[in-house]
Amino acid sequence: MCGIVGYVGKKNVRDVIIEGLHRLEYRGYDSAGIATTDGKTLVVKKAIGKISDLEKAIQGISFPGSIGMGHTRWATHGGVTEANAHPHTGCPWTKKLQVAVAHNGIIENYRHIKTLLEKKGHMFTSETDTEVIAHLIEEYANGSLFEAVRAALNDLEGAYAIVVISKEYPHELIAARNQSPLVLGVGKGEYYIGSDPSAFVTHTRDVIHVEDGEIVRITPEGYTISLLDNTPISRNVTHIDWDAKKIEKGGYDHYMKKEIDEQPHSTRDAMRGRIDIENGNARLRGIEDKLNELSILKRIIITACGTSWHAGLVGEYLIEELARIPVEVEYASEFRYRSPIIEPGTAVLVISQSGETADTLAALREAKRQGGLVLGICNVIGSTIARETHSGVYLHAGPEIGVASTKAFTSQITVLTLLSVLLARSRGMSQARGQQLLKALADIPEKMTYLLRPENEQAIKKIAEAHAERNHFLYLGRGINFPVALEGALKLKEISYIHAEGYPAAEMKHGPIALIDKKMPSVIIALKHDPLYPKIISNMEEILARGGDIIAVATEEDGEIEKKAKHVLRVPTVPIELSPLVTALPLQMLAYYAAVKRGCEIDQPRNLAKSVTVE
Ligand code: AGP
Ligand code: GLU
Repeated sequence: MCGIVGYVGKKNVRDVIIEGLHRLEYRGYDSAGIATTDGKTLVVKKAIGKISDLEKAIQGISFPGSIGMGHTRWATHGGVTEANAHPHTGCPWTKKLQVAVAHNGIIENYRHIKTLLEKKGHMFTSETDTEVIAHLIEEYANGSLFEAVRAALNDLEGAYAIVVISKEYPHELIAARNQSPLVLGVGKGEYYIGSDPSAFVTHTRDVIHVEDGEIVRITPEGYTISLLDNTPISRNVTHIDWDAKKIEKGGYDHYMKKEIDEQPHSTRDAMRGRIDIENGNARLRGIEDKLNELSILKRIIITACGTSWHAGLVGEYLIEELARIPVEVEYASEFRYRSPIIEPGTAVLVISQSGETADTLAALREAKRQGGLVLGICNVIGSTIARETHSGVYLHAGPEIGVASTKAFTSQITVLTLLSVLLARSRGMSQARGQQLLKALADIPEKMTYLLRPENEQAIKKIAEAHAERNHFLYLGRGINFPVALEGALKLKEISYIHAEGYPAAEMKHGPIALIDKKMPSVIIALKHDPLYPKIISNMEEILARGGDIIAVATEEDGEIEKKAKHVLRVPTVPIELSPLVTALPLQMLAYYAAVKRGCEIDQPRNLAKSVTVE
């Protein structure tokens, strides 16, 4: 949610901040703002809309100084207005301390603080929770910006990453974190702060992950990190191994399409060095230290949100089928507030692309609090979830920028397949079966490349365009492809705003079938070699009998499917256990081309943000 960037250094501050905001725009994009200071003035400018709107609004305005910050907002408190956009300032008349504050997160006790401050004469100009931070710092002004910020933070409850600058201390930037991501970038005689390293990756790849409860003070001379009680913290700089090219569009119109097309590479990267064909086993170094515990596991709870939750459902099928360990899959947002039963022998597996999703992080912490073994599957290296799990496996999918997750989904399934084989092999699955599955897994990238060939893509595009004006879709699948149906429906909803529902195909007759008519197409995953194929064909008959149109996802060998389906999205044949790795792709493309046809904002769909760091 939202992106923060801050800079202390000799470069043109405005340019560094605007560039950083462009790179962070995928995180939130309803309004944006920038502030800089040279000690004489504190210039704060904001605009609703995208960063390009902010750029238009600040044309001709000079931003003095060598210190500044920017923010791209994803509103939680207060509508999308210029007044609510960040950075926020305190009372316009103050002579004590003129600050600008950018914030990511939610201040839960803001009402209480606001009332107290209003009684003291503070005047608020926005509806946000954030504005109280600026007024509190002003209230605590006592001859040190750092001390005023520290005092204010001690009053705050909730989640925040904040950046503060002030007119009175034009060589000092203060940043702090509690439950919202924040990374310090260390350059040569210059320093950056960002919600993630993409904010400054063109300038430096040396980073320090700021932890919860820490406050950072940056000046042109250097930085210090301390806890809120002033205990100093020392932490090593880490070097990130990806560069700006990885997060650029590389000739594509949209990140989402680029990321769909990257899947042969990203899945290969997810399995690289992890397949031991000789022993028919998987090697997952990140969890090697937990192998003994894993071999005697009695139960696994998978918890995640959105697309990662769908990957978790695929994981449930895989782990139960191959390793015969009971698995439950929970929405992290529910898990965190239930009283989950985590007995000895239960492992909790959290799945998150970003590694920053607030609900997933809270579920992780709850599981840890109950003494469970907590494992993670994450994409973003060094992210909070990755750091807080006991052990975990990275996807190595590279940065995923499109808000609609695509390549992370298939990489998550790849890692879950490897994990299932690992668990199964320690429970009696034969070496031959392990070899067979892993060989088929190793072939998946090639199958994906074949699936993504231009003729097939054109065929999918045509079908998508022909249906782009429909208002409702049903997505149906069975067994391991039921979660893929859910994911296909989520993709369509997210980026094309077409209402879509995913169901297990047989469940349709218990209600959703009432919706079927000529205007509501059903997308059905029907793979000929699936033992449930005859049942799925019966489900298709039920739809046809009610005048509904069918778009089938079917294998190339299936010469009969056209008798039932008006349109067919072809996929290569792979073992059923691995089929989500191919069936997901045409559904991603169907959603993509329908959204393009409808003229939607593909990479920044309305109301969404890439990383949901609020509850
Ligand atoms: C996917 O297309 C979504 N934008 C969303 O559901 C996402 O998967 C969810 O917010 C979880 O994110 P995470 O994997 O980064 O934790
Ligand atoms: N809660 C703050 C607001 O609504 C910050 C939201 C964000 O993270 O962008 O303005």
